Amino acid sequence: MPEQKLIIAPSILSADLAHLQEEVSSIEPYADWLQIDVMDGHFVPSISFGAPIVRCIQTALPLDIHLMVSNPAERIDEFLEIGAANITFHAEAVAHTEHRKELIQRIRAGGATAGIAINPETSLDSVGDVLEEIDLLLVMSVHPGFGGQPFIEHVLSNVRTARSAFPDLMIQMDGGINKDTASECVKAGANNLVSGSFIFGASDRKMAINSLRQS
Ligand code: DX5
Repeated sequence: MPEQKLIIAPSILSADLAHLQEEVSSIEPYADWLQIDVMDGHFVPSISFGAPIVRCIQTALPLDIHLMVSNPAERIDEFLEIGAANITFHAEAVAHTEHRKELIQRIRAGGATAGIAINPETSLDSVGDVLEEIDLLLVMSVHPGFGGQPFIEHVLSNVRTARSAFPDLMIQMDGGINKDTASECVKAGANNLVSGSFIFGASDRKMAINSLRQS
């Protein structure tokens, strides 16, 4: 199997939202994806932004929509219409297998890849019903809702297990990822890293992103 390229996806949650376009432009030459944290204030405590804001962003980067919402089925169409490259929903928000499969099918039919996310307290087994079907598994390394939180180490065991069972699966990690934790994530088997405060808090964003690639 060819070495899977490591994807770096800056998360705009930690960007200066009053200057969002400049912030995106500042990382665009160095990043692979752009992660958009959509939060509804119900599934997670925070409210962030939705399709109207995302529609304003001018970028060539593939948009990676992370739906931290209680009812992802209601949000999919608007992000497909914007041209999302990937849409990830949370296993904790969609319990039933048939509903999960329906969402995956809808996302794919709309031209995007489909991901499922698990929070740190959620077992990998709980998504065993769709791991063969999805394009991306997102293993959260923080409790979702806020940027700048510390990395939760124990989730790495889920990454190791998923990688050994699914050598070709895109495994994304998100939360507390910086130049120190990135190497642990890659060693465990992650090949897609989301990072917010480490990148947007850096004065030299090119260096920050490249330091994640060195991992
Ligand atoms: C947390 C979000 C993460 C967060 C990452 O709920 O899903 O994407 O923005 O931010 P850092 O990298 O600062 O932990």
